[in-house]
Amino acid sequence: MTRSRALARTLSLLALAVALAATPAAGATSGGGAVASAAPAATAAGVEILRAGGNAADAAVATALALAVVHPAAGNLGGGGFAVARFGDRTSALDFRETAPATATAGMFLGSDGEPVAERSLVGPLAAGVPGSPSGLFELHRRLGRLPWVRVVAPAVRLARDGFVVTPRLASSVAAARDLLARFPETAEVWLPGGAAPPAGSVVKLPRLAATLAAYGDRGPTAITAGTGAAAIVAASRAHGGIVTLEDLASYRPVWREPLAWEAFGWHVASMPLPSSGGIILAQTLGILERLGWAQLPRASVERVHLLVETFRRAFADRFLLGDPAATLASAEQLLDPAWLAKRAAEIDRGRATPSARVQPWQRPVPAESRETTHLSVVDGDGNAVSLTTTLNGSFGCGLLVPELAILLNNEMDDFAAAPGRPNLYGLVQGPANAVGPGKRMLSSMAPTVAWRGAAVVVLGSPGGSQIPTATAQVLLDLVVDGDSLDRAVERPRLHHQWLPDELVYEPGALSPGQRQELSRRGHTLREADHLGEVHAVRRTSSGRFEAAADPRGPGEAAAPR
Ligand code: DON
Repeated sequence: MTRSRALARTLSLLALAVALAATPAAGATSGGGAVASAAPAATAAGVEILRAGGNAADAAVATALALAVVHPAAGNLGGGGFAVARFGDRTSALDFRETAPATATAGMFLGSDGEPVAERSLVGPLAAGVPGSPSGLFELHRRLGRLPWVRVVAPAVRLARDGFVVTPRLASSVAAARDLLARFPETAEVWLPGGAAPPAGSVVKLPRLAATLAAYGDRGPTAITAGTGAAAIVAASRAHGGIVTLEDLASYRPVWREPLAWEAFGWHVASMPLPSSGGIILAQTLGILERLGWAQLPRASVERVHLLVETFRRAFADRFLLGDPAATLASAEQLLDPAWLAKRAAEIDRGRATPSARVQPWQRPVPAESRETTHLSVVDGDGNAVSLTTTLNGSFGCGLLVPELAILLNNEMDDFAAAPGRPNLYGLVQGPANAVGPGKRMLSSMAPTVAWRGAAVVVLGSPGGSQIPTATAQVLLDLVVDGDSLDRAVERPRLHHQWLPDELVYEPGALSPGQRQELSRRGHTLREADHLGEVHAVRRTSSGRFEAAADPRGPGEAAAPR
């Protein structure tokens, strides 16, 4: 952790200690559940709901809504996400991913010359998918929650109405997004009062967002997706060139999907199926590594790094084929077929990096011959678990705030292959299955995950775009293969590879100078980056203890109520 990160974290922890009077940040343990999220006030909201007798779903929704207030770069009502839940023996996956508006077309982000138009898929409401969060969070509570809906929404209403202390992270994220936010007067009025980001330590009140949340608490999603709420979204969108309609908002539905479930290293794992590539990448990674005997290799060895990276490279090559479940060119079954995983494992040269140009995506066997997102993890006293990742895509989404509702709209349309053959915001080169099309869900990399073995339950996930499945995979491997403590697994320096660009990205401390030399010799192109994902994880151990760990890469908070 850099010194500035350590300082930011210390300041936010002090703020939390005052606000929460709860257990310390990383490594909190108790007998009554646990919450980990990207913001102290949001974790406090989840803890409040657990203490009030809420279960993991109630606490997850309260945490997510508090993030929509105190972490506007990613927490949201104008974006979407995924949740994987395990209640008793039942595992379920909720898809509240945004959809393309009904009039979206494959070429909408290209100019008449067929070339991508700068920023079109990223800035302003043309970049926004139809928001899934209002009905998604409501549905998660409707199906799995225990406390009254209005009670679960209350902490977020209180934060917006009574105000909250600006953390260093919030101040710096608003300052970093200043140019984007200043383009939209509606947004600037709320987040750049007087033309500048609110300073750390100041108190911000958001009365219009409080009113939006209060109406949402009273009436549910139609407070936002129908009537005057929807009309406000459509008007703000249209004023800046957007195409979302009342019908798009009214017809949006979250979808319960069969989670992607598999076994690896003696654990059951469940993660997100399509329209996220995250679970498939995670499952391929674990499956291939198991076949390569990865667990038996020395922990800090170049051999392990090399095989991990070669595995990521291949999993992201297969991602090229993926898209909305109705349009995908390969299924999870095909990409997780034991024969395919064995073939991938066998083609890895243990001594040499395979150039990405030579790694082809999965091909149908001929007969007879995967910058802002936020993740939260909750487990309640009964061991029920919710793993929830939500996003506006880029930090502060498309930049436009709907003035009447004070909610920011996403720029998730950039997750489509907006310009075929060209890298998106996360450098991903994507395939035809993920072309823009009306009503389609754009392919994601988010991987909210729950793993269990006997009474032990692990709940984890991450932001980071294409780094989500690779960060999640490494923390899970640290836990289930190497038996790390939760803190250590979350903190440990990480690696990343996504097929294209063909580079092995590593955090400081992940590789020794000698290992870097040896990996270059094997043909890997190396690049240092200081922040690969931000994993927030909680678990119940096999002996019934509860633990929570927030990633030291961010100012998040972990807490376990007593
Ligand atoms: O769904 C996806 O894969 C992206 N929209 C996620 C964006 C993200 O993680 C940004 N976070 N830092």
